[in-house]
Amino acid sequence: MNRVDIVDVIDAAVPLKKAGANHIACCPFHGEKTPSFTVSPTKQFYHCFGCGAHGTAIGFLMEYQGLTFVEAVEDLAKRAGVKVPQVERDSPQAPRPAASQYELMQQALAYYRAELKKSDTAITYLKGRGLSGEIAARFQMGYAPSGWQNLRAVFSDYENSALTTLGLTKKSEEGRYYDQFRDRVMFPIHDQRGQVIGFGGRVLSSENGEGPKYLNSPETPLFQKGQELYGLFLARQAIRTKGCVVVVEGYMDVVALAQSGIEYAVATLGTATTPQHIAKLMRQTDDIIFCFDGDAAGRKAAWRAAINALPVLTDKLKLSFLFLPAEHDPDSYVREFGRERFESEAKAALPLSAYLMQELSSHHDMGTPEGRVRFLDDAKPILQQLQAPKMNLMLRKRVAELAGITQVEVESLLQLEAPSAPRKVQAKAPRRAPTLSRKLLQLLLIKPDLAMQLDLARLPKGGAEFEALARIIELVDANPLINAATLLQSLHGVINEQLLSELSGELLSWEDEEFDVALEFDGALRQLIGASQQDEVKKILALAQERGPQALTAEQREILQLYRKAVLPKNSS
Ligand code: GTP
Ligand code: MN
Repeated sequence: MNRVDIVDVIDAAVPLKKAGANHIACCPFHGEKTPSFTVSPTKQFYHCFGCGAHGTAIGFLMEYQGLTFVEAVEDLAKRAGVKVPQVERDSPQAPRPAASQYELMQQALAYYRAELKKSDTAITYLKGRGLSGEIAARFQMGYAPSGWQNLRAVFSDYENSALTTLGLTKKSEEGRYYDQFRDRVMFPIHDQRGQVIGFGGRVLSSENGEGPKYLNSPETPLFQKGQELYGLFLARQAIRTKGCVVVVEGYMDVVALAQSGIEYAVATLGTATTPQHIAKLMRQTDDIIFCFDGDAAGRKAAWRAAINALPVLTDKLKLSFLFLPAEHDPDSYVREFGRERFESEAKAALPLSAYLMQELSSHHDMGTPEGRVRFLDDAKPILQQLQAPKMNLMLRKRVAELAGITQVEVESLLQLEAPSAPRKVQAKAPRRAPTLSRKLLQLLLIKPDLAMQLDLARLPKGGAEFEALARIIELVDANPLINAATLLQSLHGVINEQLLSELSGELLSWEDEEFDVALEFDGALRQLIGASQQDEVKKILALAQERGPQALTAEQREILQLYRKAVLPKNSS
């Protein structure tokens, strides 16, 4: 099969310029004036040094054109002049291959959507909340009927533990399986590629409903609440066009805003806004407006969001806060006052700096020295965490003004370091020497079959890098012929996204054919295992010193002996 070149695929959508071994353009996934979006023809993937977007040709089509995985594969096959055999959906005799977790979620979604069409009560409920059929369809809303084992009709092996892992079913103490979602309106949660990774289900009426108002999928291999934002996949285009994003608390807020024409809203999923959420949004826009409920809980959520933003804030990013009247949430507000009013309020939202200062000073009597001292104490952790250098300087000045002292006095009183020089996050940033497990990861992404040599049991445990090594070993075990681009693609949603992004950036800066990958791998592996043994030895020695040699187990003694044999001759030479 002719392979489709990623350069051609991307060039058709975003004109590329050749720059050395790679091709570059201004990144289509975030606004920028100098190109940091890089496509490597030899490695067959892209990476943006500005926003961290990265992936293969398939990933690009999914992300940029909003295709599903299958659609992207079909698109590529068409470009290569290959026909993809149509999957036969319902041939009863052929045993169906084990569906991937994404496919299981997709099947559940199709079922819930079909059920919504059949349920007058659910349709009446949604209509009563002001939603049109188009909006319900756009958000792929569904209905999980009442009854305990409806999904049996969808999944022939209903007792499959994969369904429980995904949060679609639960297992009772007596060992019976039952549907997690019953008699609820269903909101599917998509990842950035448009794949369903979770659901939120709302009871139809608070009187008769069973359990909590909203039931959300638990954390699953596909779904991490602290990372995902409801509605982001659908909102992406509008966020780019409008140049800003509105962050709200509820599913219904997102849907109601879209209903009134505000399509650039996303929601956190019943959790506080995390730094990962903000980092994810920063890839799409540099204007983030938080609009939480007007009640006390909403105000608390706003403060949490402000504090969690501090470590990831840049000077380019504009964060602001829109506070609604206490009786409103974005849904009820936009329904009562309409789109224009909401948008003009959003435009006038309170900037982060003003919000921080307003909150801090309102808690103290700024008319007394005592009050101002407490104000300074509260300001300290904020100034320490705020990463954006110019913004940090502005805030120091403002804190000084409010406290009635000079900026230098603030800095010495609070023992703050001088504002840090702006950090460069561009491609030219000096490369840190990678840790050994990092190096193994990089090498595996170039030559996946090296994973066959890895014995997980011998690697030092813990951390995102270890997890990633473990997942790669699984993937290569399952498919020993997997190529580098497919491996990279398969790791999406499986390993830590931040790590994956960093790795793809690091890979691009490696020269091709510069060295013998297998040899490097061998060396890194030896060192890594050696290093973990040394750590072990150090621990044993410390234990022996603290509790005496008799406290050591036989195994620990043996390790020490082996270590001495291996190491001492070298040291004495
Ligand atoms: P509506 O009553 O449908 O308008 O809901 P809302 O969107 O106004 O939701 P609300 O402000 O009550 O809650 C905001 C978000 O918090 C929801 O979208 C859910 O994600 C989450 N949430 C609300 N209630 C519950 C609950 O009872 N359990 C859980 N786990 N999450 C909830
Ligand atoms: Mn509401």
